[in-house]
Amino acid sequence: MTSFGKYYTFIIAGASGDLAAKKTFPALYGLYREKQLSPDCQIIGYARSDLSEEKFHEKISQHFKGGDEQTKKDFLKLTSYVRGAYDTDEGYQKLEKRCVDYEKEHNVEKPERIFYLALPPSAFTEVCEHIKKDVYPKDGIIRVVIEKPFGHDLKSARELQESIAPLFSEDEIYRIDHYLGKEMVKNLLVIRFGNELFSGVWNKNHISSIQVSFKEPFGTEGRGGYFDTIGIIRDVMQNHLLQVLTLLTMERPVSFDAEAVRDEKVRVLKAFDKINVDDVIVGQYDKSEDGKKPSYLDDKTVAKDSKCITYAAFTVNIHNERWDGVPMILRAGKALDEGKVEIRIQFKPVARGMFKDIQRNELVIRIQPDEAIYLKINSKIPGVSTETSLTDLDLTYNKRYSKDFWIPEAYESLIRDVLHGNHSNFVRDDELDVSWKLFTPLLEALENNPNLNLEKYPYGSKGPKELRKYLQKHGYVFAEEGSYQWPLTEPDVKGKI
Ligand code: BG6
Repeated sequence: MTSFGKYYTFIIAGASGDLAAKKTFPALYGLYREKQLSPDCQIIGYARSDLSEEKFHEKISQHFKGGDEQTKKDFLKLTSYVRGAYDTDEGYQKLEKRCVDYEKEHNVEKPERIFYLALPPSAFTEVCEHIKKDVYPKDGIIRVVIEKPFGHDLKSARELQESIAPLFSEDEIYRIDHYLGKEMVKNLLVIRFGNELFSGVWNKNHISSIQVSFKEPFGTEGRGGYFDTIGIIRDVMQNHLLQVLTLLTMERPVSFDAEAVRDEKVRVLKAFDKINVDDVIVGQYDKSEDGKKPSYLDDKTVAKDSKCITYAAFTVNIHNERWDGVPMILRAGKALDEGKVEIRIQFKPVARGMFKDIQRNELVIRIQPDEAIYLKINSKIPGVSTETSLTDLDLTYNKRYSKDFWIPEAYESLIRDVLHGNHSNFVRDDELDVSWKLFTPLLEALENNPNLNLEKYPYGSKGPKELRKYLQKHGYVFAEEGSYQWPLTEPDVKGKI
């Protein structure tokens, strides 16, 4: 793990695109604002568009958050723009010259350069070849950051990997899955392995099911073109949700060292059983019940008779000693009733005997919005009553931690890791391979099924109706209606005593 010094060059290829404007540049700005970026580094945007420096600055600063005008101006002074094609040497040679001039000016002996590819995957290989040929610092360090999608299936992921592997070592490549940069996701290993309370019960003897769910309150809204070719499973499940599930189920790594963590991730992924394609819920959103919100097929950018999956739920079983038989349910959907990503770990029931009705413990880890961890427990209703009620131990971040506390956005956190040469929160090549091995048969079975049962669900609803039964079938027990609420806004069990 080598941290970069004062003088490094950060190049963003695809600098005029959406991802760069919405994520990469705002993240660099956020790091600068928080003094996590060297004030002497240089940042170069590279793209095909003909942009004046002024237009470029205007474009990249649209999504900057926080800081005063002076901070923004100072940050923009570090940035410049180079126009160039992706498929010819000329532009890359200009980049090389800009790097060399800067490195000479600052007497840099060992150049440090980062290439961030905010580009569609079709351009990855070509751009990597040119970087290697024209801008590779022979006696220095290069870090190449690439964004998903890393392939469309196992075959294409392997092809991509085979084309990049001869150019850069695995150590030079940083594959971003931005969920790994989210605060609560980074906390998972600490919660699990830093607490005997959890680590002792984290297995099939105590846990009855695990759910990782992703809900978005909006649909494709006229931008469905790309989504239509991939669907929700590739978009967020094969990567983001699987990463979360892997961190929840892996064995304890010997240290926080990147390879130790990633070795364990790969090991558990290899124990994942084939996903049963006959036990999957798939859906596509329809108009909202009041007819105000459009159906997926109303999106002009998608195929008229598209069978694209906008909602999916399925179950994974892990064939190892720790987990065999515990259903791991992944579910994700667009155009639902709320925006939320959370983990729900339900525990087995306690022995009845002394209790007639006692509910189950459940640990809920809310990744977003508003990070929180709460553990649902049974407790005696205060006072003379001997009845039990379901209540919680609640760690809601914005109640517990001061608001001045800076929690980096996912991209800020990951770019900071790249600057420090920390690979722990990036996806390794073999990890990617196993994840595609797991998902490709499922995707193929769904995509080649002419009788796919694509359930329509209204925009703004909870998703396909079968979900409740599906969860019950996999052992999830819903709390008694009205018996529990989180977060509480008023004192609990008022008037019950
Ligand atoms: C992206 C998907 O990877 O993740 C998007 O392509 C999705 O479709 C997004 O909206 C969700 O990320 P976040 O950070 O908003 O939860």
